[in-house]
Amino acid sequence: MKIPFGPTYDEMLHPSTIDKDIRKRALKGKSNELDPINLFNITWRNEENIVNKIVLPKELTGVDANIVVLLGKYFPSGSHKVGPAYSTLIEGCVDGDIIPGEHTILGPSTGNFGIGVAYICNLMKYDAIVIMPDNMSKERYDRIKRYGAKLDLTPGTESDVILTLERTFELKKDPKTRSLAQFELLPNYRFHRHVTGNSCIEAVKGIGNGRIACFASAPGSAGTLAAGDQIKVAFPETKVVALEPYECSTLMNGGKGQHRIEGIGDKMCTLIHNVLNTDFIALIKDDDAVRGLKVVHDGVDILMKHGVDKEVAKQMKDLFGVSGIANIIGAIKMAKYLKLGPDDNVVTIATDGFDRYDSVLEDLERRYLETEDFVLDRWFKDVYRKNGVDDIVDYRSASQKEKLFKQKEKDWLKFGYKQAYLDSMRHMDFWNHEYEKVQHYDEQIKKLRTES
Ligand SMILES: Cc1ncc(COP(=O)(O)O)c(C=O)c1O
Repeated sequence: MKIPFGPTYDEMLHPSTIDKDIRKRALKGKSNELDPINLFNITWRNEENIVNKIVLPKELTGVDANIVVLLGKYFPSGSHKVGPAYSTLIEGCVDGDIIPGEHTILGPSTGNFGIGVAYICNLMKYDAIVIMPDNMSKERYDRIKRYGAKLDLTPGTESDVILTLERTFELKKDPKTRSLAQFELLPNYRFHRHVTGNSCIEAVKGIGNGRIACFASAPGSAGTLAAGDQIKVAFPETKVVALEPYECSTLMNGGKGQHRIEGIGDKMCTLIHNVLNTDFIALIKDDDAVRGLKVVHDGVDILMKHGVDKEVAKQMKDLFGVSGIANIIGAIKMAKYLKLGPDDNVVTIATDGFDRYDSVLEDLERRYLETEDFVLDRWFKDVYRKNGVDDIVDYRSASQKEKLFKQKEKDWLKFGYKQAYLDSMRHMDFWNHEYEKVQHYDEQIKKLRTES
């Protein structure tokens, strides 16, 4: 059996270990994003093997701790979600469960995972159907169509992702389909624990005390949060924080409202969310994230007025999307809450960059009477400087964890998962065992990709 040609988990973490010729071809292939060699560019690292990141200027954050943001926009397709999409597909190929030419791939998503699925299927020659809500940012649909996937739209927005799962459940009844179910399947966990987690550990080398005091990330599928599991292995003191929209605080208190932060706050505790390692849950107001994006994208002068270096302000303009700003606000809140100092590092993630949010800022222009510089100046202070330590809850006790386990049961028993399986997730052994499979898949990928 030959499987499509792509990297192992370890090669995504350390692209320097990829065969030299292939690595050279991959770097050259960046100029043509639909060249399949770009599978070998699925990594957090740049040409020099350095993790793509920015340490935010303290003039922006207003806190002493170093806030380190890993940048997902440099992944092929423009977001790190391509990593879990690839990992889930290649594991399916290794297991013999997904067969080229025979299976159509389903990608339930609110956008970036769908973009990743469409992109990966284009490169690996599979037909793809992306199932997503019909009210997400316009740029997302354009990209998915550009990559050649079909769209199957369900009503609503980010918080209606459950409808995409129900639709996928229906489509899956066709034996010719295979679902890359990001909320349920553990390759998403493996990619982020191994590739993202270890890249975070690498990213703080030489910054502050070189350790990670806090890892904050807003879950959609909660794949990214799995990085926290690996970070805790290296730095047991790390506090892992799940951020939620204030308007849709499902994990904190069952809240299920509509909100504007695309990619997160999906009204559930996902199956692959290891709640054992979630220490705190903190809420971010959705319009703070949108207004914060407006300030960074259109307020270079305002940032400079507050002391941010001109080149850094210009560089930041296109680095973040709405959820990236939500993560940054969450990281600032946690630095205050945990009373962190200049030696301490808070790590967070920008899943994608600005390229898919023009329409979100256009919508903001329509909603507000004015967005002149004096308004942006006020938003700078309100969003970045004045955000306090409210709406942060400690989830380290057994009774708090129990609430999350119960939420998971409510969300997943109805999709046919057994109580015994969910109970097994109450132990760290389950997650470590799943993580250990990285080695098995890496061996198989290496073996099978060369066989003819
Ligand atoms: C823009 C954006 N931010 C954050 C996330 C959440 O990442 P994860 O699914 O790994 O929890 C997603 C997921 O699709 C996303 O698209």
